[in-house]
Amino acid sequence: MNEGKKTVFGYMPDGVPVEEVLLTDGAISCGIITYGGALRSLTVPDRNGQPVDVALGFDTLEAYLAQDKYIGAIIGRYANRIGGSRFALDGKEYPLRSNDGANHLHGGPEGFDKQVWRIRAQTRNSVTLSLNSPDGQEGYPGTLDVTATYTLADRALEIVYQAKSSRTTLCNLTSHAYFNLSGHGSGSIESHQFRLSASRYTPADENLIPTGAIESVKGTPMDLRQLQPLGAREYDHNWVIDGWNSALVPAALAWSPDTGIYMETLTTLPGIQFYTGNFLDGCPEGKGGAAYGRHGAFCLETQYFPDSPNHSRFPSAVLQVGEIYESKTAYYFDTEFKTG
Ligand code: GLA
Repeated sequence: MNEGKKTVFGYMPDGVPVEEVLLTDGAISCGIITYGGALRSLTVPDRNGQPVDVALGFDTLEAYLAQDKYIGAIIGRYANRIGGSRFALDGKEYPLRSNDGANHLHGGPEGFDKQVWRIRAQTRNSVTLSLNSPDGQEGYPGTLDVTATYTLADRALEIVYQAKSSRTTLCNLTSHAYFNLSGHGSGSIESHQFRLSASRYTPADENLIPTGAIESVKGTPMDLRQLQPLGAREYDHNWVIDGWNSALVPAALAWSPDTGIYMETLTTLPGIQFYTGNFLDGCPEGKGGAAYGRHGAFCLETQYFPDSPNHSRFPSAVLQVGEIYESKTAYYFDTEFKTG
């Protein structure tokens, strides 16, 4: 096997090669491609010790280029939506490119998910990718130098993001990994159970732009503080993680009764978008001929709140010139609920 080694995954239309790195640690392994810095596979043991690939991905680069679901990709410069595709910084208005009606989604039509990242360093269980986003790209001020380091260790996939800008800008990076803990091609996640460590959320309008309010989940379908089956519900909202203090705190738990696999998401970021794959219909054929449709996977996108530059009560995603952006998110895997 070529663990820690790179192979060519495909070629961009302009001939630029896209590589894949395979990482392993104990019983966990994953594949990362340089197109979009995307997680292409993530294999963890089920309750019987059998390997299960829990991440959606494609067999060909062409399928990645054809889809519009952000499958597995790193999202930037601003994860999720910016309402009206504009924001103000230091008294200046910045128009952004729109790609979700009048709004700006996941960094714009040519966000970080559409770029070919460079491999800067790699070992058996870790890879650091980098991207240079020029001043003005998609409308954002400042040249942003970004790295994302994926590391497999202690039953977890950890992603550390770092960035630095030549001018004050916005920076909100996340992973758009899609998970299905019963296996990536196993169909609906409705039997999965979920828990979010969040007593509050940010209500949004019909275009998923936050109203600016921060409300209690109590007595609403947003109350996922107790582990519960998803059933027929669908979500695409941002929750406010309890106990955010810039250290790694538990944000979410997902569990598959089929395989016994659970995934705990921990993050240093203040928010988490729980998205139940509502727009997955129309996805190209997945790995090994798998069909990925509506509710066929979930995402837990750790983030600054959507549209934060337009809401002064939300934690700020502004990155000052000279400052280093750093955030960390870890997905920890085990089976059933062992204590101690
Ligand atoms: C995020 C958004 C969703 C959707 C997906 C991509 O999760 O919140 O509304 O845009 O990305 O399809």
